[in-house]
Amino acid sequence: MRLLVATRNRHKLEEIRQIFALPGLELLAADEVPGLPEEVVEDEVTFEGNALKKARELGAASGLWAMADDSGLEVEALGNEPGVRSARYAGEPCSTPANNEKLLRELEGVADRRARFRCVIALRAPDGREWSVEGRCEGRIIGAPRGANGFGYDPLFVPDGHDATFAELDGATKNALSHRGHALRRAAELWHGLLA
Ligand code: IMP
Repeated sequence: MRLLVATRNRHKLEEIRQIFALPGLELLAADEVPGLPEEVVEDEVTFEGNALKKARELGAASGLWAMADDSGLEVEALGNEPGVRSARYAGEPCSTPANNEKLLRELEGVADRRARFRCVIALRAPDGREWSVEGRCEGRIIGAPRGANGFGYDPLFVPDGHDATFAELDGATKNALSHRGHALRRAAELWHGLLA
Protein backbone atom coordinates (compact mmCIF):
# COMPACT_ATOMS: atom_id res chain seq x y z
CA MET A 1 0.00 0.00 0.00
CA ARG A 2 1.29 3.48 -0.86
CA LEU A 3 0.55 6.47 1.38
CA LEU A 4 1.29 10.03 0.27
CA VAL A 5 2.42 12.24 3.15
CA ALA A 6 1.31 15.76 2.29
CA THR A 7 4.38 17.55 3.58
CA ARG A 8 7.61 18.87 2.10
CA ASN A 9 9.03 19.34 5.63
CA ARG A 10 11.89 16.81 6.02
CA HIS A 11 11.83 17.08 9.84
CA LYS A 12 8.16 16.06 10.02
CA LEU A 13 8.65 13.36 7.40
CA GLU A 14 11.41 11.73 9.46
CA GLU A 15 9.15 11.64 12.56
CA ILE A 16 6.35 10.16 10.47
CA ARG A 17 8.61 7.50 8.93
CA GLN A 18 9.70 6.35 12.41
CA ILE A 19 6.16 5.99 13.78
CA PHE A 20 4.67 4.65 10.53
CA ALA A 21 7.32 1.97 9.91
CA LEU A 22 4.71 -0.70 9.11
CA PRO A 23 5.21 -3.79 6.94
CA GLY A 24 3.78 -3.43 3.45
CA LEU A 25 3.43 0.33 3.72
CA GLU A 26 5.39 2.61 1.41
CA LEU A 27 5.46 6.27 2.45
CA LEU A 28 5.83 8.84 -0.31
CA ALA A 29 6.68 12.50 0.27
CA ALA A 30 4.89 15.19 -1.74
CA ASP A 31 8.07 15.94 -3.70
CA GLU A 32 8.37 12.27 -4.75
CA VAL A 33 5.05 12.38 -6.63
CA PRO A 34 5.02 14.40 -9.87
CA GLY A 35 2.18 16.72 -10.80
CA LEU A 36 1.01 17.71 -7.31
CA PRO A 37 0.09 21.32 -6.44
CA GLU A 38 3.21 23.16 -5.13
CA GLU A 39 1.33 24.49 -2.13
CA VAL A 40 -2.11 24.12 -0.57
CA VAL A 41 -3.36 27.42 0.90
CA GLU A 42 -4.05 26.87 4.62
CA ASP A 43 -6.99 29.26 4.90
CA GLU A 44 -9.37 27.24 7.08
CA VAL A 45 -10.15 28.46 10.61
CA THR A 46 -9.44 25.15 12.37
CA PHE A 47 -6.48 22.75 12.42
CA GLU A 48 -8.84 19.99 11.31
CA GLY A 49 -10.10 22.06 8.37
CA ASN A 50 -6.57 22.75 7.14
CA ALA A 51 -5.37 19.15 7.60
CA LEU A 52 -8.42 17.78 5.74
CA LYS A 53 -8.02 20.36 2.98
CA LYS A 54 -4.38 19.34 2.39
CA ALA A 55 -5.17 15.59 2.45
CA ARG A 56 -8.15 16.14 0.12
CA GLU A 57 -6.31 18.24 -2.47
CA LEU A 58 -3.18 16.07 -2.63
CA GLY A 59 -5.17 12.81 -2.40
CA ALA A 60 -7.46 13.85 -5.24
CA ALA A 61 -4.52 15.05 -7.40
CA SER A 62 -2.53 11.81 -6.90
CA GLY A 63 -5.23 9.14 -6.57
CA LEU A 64 -3.28 7.79 -3.56
CA TRP A 65 -4.08 7.38 0.13
CA ALA A 66 -3.05 10.75 1.61
CA MET A 67 -2.13 11.94 5.08
CA ALA A 68 -1.71 15.60 6.11
CA ASP A 69 -1.22 17.43 9.38
CA ASP A 70 -1.79 20.91 10.73
CA SER A 71 -0.47 22.10 14.05
CA GLY A 72 0.06 25.17 16.17
CA LEU A 73 0.19 26.81 19.56
CA GLU A 74 -2.81 28.03 21.57
CA VAL A 75 -2.23 30.45 24.45
CA GLU A 76 -5.01 30.74 27.06
CA ALA A 77 -4.49 34.41 27.92
CA LEU A 78 -4.51 35.34 24.20
CA GLY A 79 -7.89 33.74 23.50
CA ASN A 80 -6.12 30.71 21.96
CA GLU A 81 -4.03 32.79 19.58
CA PRO A 82 -1.87 32.26 17.54
CA GLY A 83 -3.70 28.97 16.75
CA VAL A 84 -3.98 28.27 13.01
CA ARG A 85 -1.91 31.42 12.40
CA SER A 86 1.08 30.09 14.39
CA ALA A 87 3.51 30.01 11.44
CA ARG A 88 2.66 33.56 10.33
CA TYR A 89 1.83 35.13 13.74
CA ALA A 90 4.13 38.14 13.19
CA GLY A 91 3.16 38.43 9.50
CA GLU A 92 4.60 37.15 6.25
CA PRO A 93 7.15 36.04 5.20
CA CYS A 94 7.07 33.63 8.16
CA SER A 95 9.81 34.29 10.72
CA THR A 96 10.38 32.18 13.83
CA PRO A 97 12.38 34.88 15.70
CA ALA A 98 9.71 37.50 14.92
CA ASN A 99 6.91 35.12 16.02
CA ASN A 100 8.67 34.33 19.29
CA GLU A 101 9.37 38.01 20.01
CA LYS A 102 5.73 38.89 19.32
CA LEU A 103 4.52 36.14 21.65
CA LEU A 104 6.78 37.36 24.48
CA ARG A 105 5.63 40.96 23.90
CA GLU A 106 1.94 39.99 23.99
CA LEU A 107 2.50 38.11 27.27
CA GLU A 108 4.52 40.84 29.00
CA GLY A 109 3.14 41.25 32.53
CA VAL A 110 0.61 38.42 32.01
CA ALA A 111 0.57 35.96 34.91
CA ASP A 112 -1.48 33.22 33.23
CA ARG A 113 1.09 31.52 30.96
CA ARG A 114 -0.92 28.35 30.16
CA ALA A 115 -0.64 27.13 26.58
CA ARG A 116 -0.97 23.99 24.49
CA PHE A 117 0.32 22.64 21.23
CA ARG A 118 -2.27 20.89 19.05
CA CYS A 119 -1.79 18.70 16.00
CA VAL A 120 -4.52 17.27 13.79
CA ILE A 121 -3.72 14.54 11.28
CA ALA A 122 -6.13 13.83 8.44
CA LEU A 123 -6.24 10.65 6.41
CA ARG A 124 -8.05 10.32 3.08
CA ALA A 125 -8.79 7.17 1.08
CA PRO A 126 -8.66 7.20 -2.74
CA ASP A 127 -12.47 6.77 -2.74
CA GLY A 128 -12.87 10.04 -0.79
CA ARG A 129 -13.51 8.68 2.74
CA GLU A 130 -11.84 10.90 5.38
CA TRP A 131 -10.76 10.59 9.01
CA SER A 132 -8.94 12.85 11.46
CA VAL A 133 -7.21 12.36 14.81
CA GLU A 134 -5.76 14.90 17.24
CA GLY A 135 -2.90 15.09 19.73
CA ARG A 136 -2.35 17.79 22.36
CA CYS A 137 0.42 18.78 24.72
CA GLU A 138 -0.39 21.12 27.63
CA GLY A 139 2.26 23.41 29.11
CA ARG A 140 3.26 27.05 29.66
CA ILE A 141 5.13 29.88 27.98
CA ILE A 142 8.25 31.07 29.81
CA GLY A 143 9.64 34.64 29.87
CA ALA A 144 12.75 34.16 27.70
CA PRO A 145 13.88 31.50 25.17
CA ARG A 146 15.91 28.49 26.34
CA GLY A 147 17.47 25.64 24.33
CA ALA A 148 18.66 25.02 20.77
CA ASN A 149 16.82 21.87 19.60
CA GLY A 150 13.56 21.65 17.68
CA PHE A 151 11.89 24.51 15.82
CA GLY A 152 9.23 27.23 16.05
CA TYR A 153 8.04 28.05 19.56
CA ASP A 154 10.01 25.18 21.17
CA PRO A 155 12.42 27.45 23.14
CA LEU A 156 9.46 29.18 24.85
CA PHE A 157 7.31 26.13 25.71
CA VAL A 158 7.68 24.02 28.86
CA PRO A 159 5.42 20.93 28.84
CA ASP A 160 3.48 20.13 32.05
CA GLY A 161 5.43 17.93 34.45
CA HIS A 162 8.81 19.14 33.14
CA ASP A 163 11.21 22.02 33.81
CA ALA A 164 12.93 21.96 30.41
CA THR A 165 11.59 23.61 27.27
CA PHE A 166 10.88 21.52 24.14
CA ALA A 167 14.10 23.01 22.72
CA GLU A 168 16.10 21.66 25.70
CA LEU A 169 14.68 18.13 25.42
CA ASP A 170 16.17 15.56 23.03
CA GLY A 171 14.11 14.54 19.99
CA ALA A 172 12.98 11.19 21.40
CA THR A 173 11.71 12.78 24.65
CA LYS A 174 9.91 15.51 22.71
CA ASN A 175 8.29 12.91 20.42
CA ALA A 176 7.05 10.94 23.43
CA LEU A 177 5.35 14.04 24.88
CA SER A 178 4.43 16.16 21.92
CA HIS A 179 1.14 16.91 20.21
CA ARG A 180 2.57 15.54 16.93
CA GLY A 181 3.84 12.35 18.59
CA HIS A 182 0.42 11.70 20.17
CA ALA A 183 -1.43 12.45 16.92
CA LEU A 184 0.93 10.25 14.88
CA ARG A 185 0.50 7.30 17.24
CA ARG A 186 -3.29 7.73 16.99
CA ALA A 187 -3.02 7.89 13.21
CA ALA A 188 -0.94 4.69 13.18
CA GLU A 189 -3.66 2.95 15.27
CA LEU A 190 -6.31 4.21 12.88
CA TRP A 191 -4.28 2.93 9.93
CA HIS A 192 -3.90 -0.51 11.57
CA GLY A 193 -7.68 -0.61 12.12
CA LEU A 194 -8.38 0.26 8.50
CA LEU A 195 -6.08 -2.49 7.24
CA ALA A 196 -7.37 -5.12 9.67
P1 IMP B 1 2.37 23.65 10.47
O1 IMP B 1 1.63 22.51 11.06
O2 IMP B 1 3.61 23.23 9.74
O3 IMP B 1 1.47 24.57 9.68
O4 IMP B 1 2.96 24.45 11.72
C1 IMP B 1 2.42 25.64 12.18
C2 IMP B 1 3.35 26.37 13.12
O5 IMP B 1 3.04 25.95 14.45
C3 IMP B 1 4.84 26.12 12.96
O6 IMP B 1 5.41 26.96 11.99
C4 IMP B 1 5.33 26.49 14.34
O7 IMP B 1 5.40 27.88 14.48
C5 IMP B 1 4.20 26.00 15.23
N1 IMP B 1 4.48 24.63 15.69
C6 IMP B 1 3.82 23.49 15.35
N2 IMP B 1 4.35 22.42 15.97
C7 IMP B 1 5.39 22.89 16.69
C8 IMP B 1 6.34 22.26 17.54
O8 IMP B 1 6.38 21.03 17.74
N3 IMP B 1 7.24 23.08 18.11
C9 IMP B 1 7.26 24.42 17.92
N4 IMP B 1 6.41 25.05 17.13
C10 IMP B 1 5.47 24.30 16.51
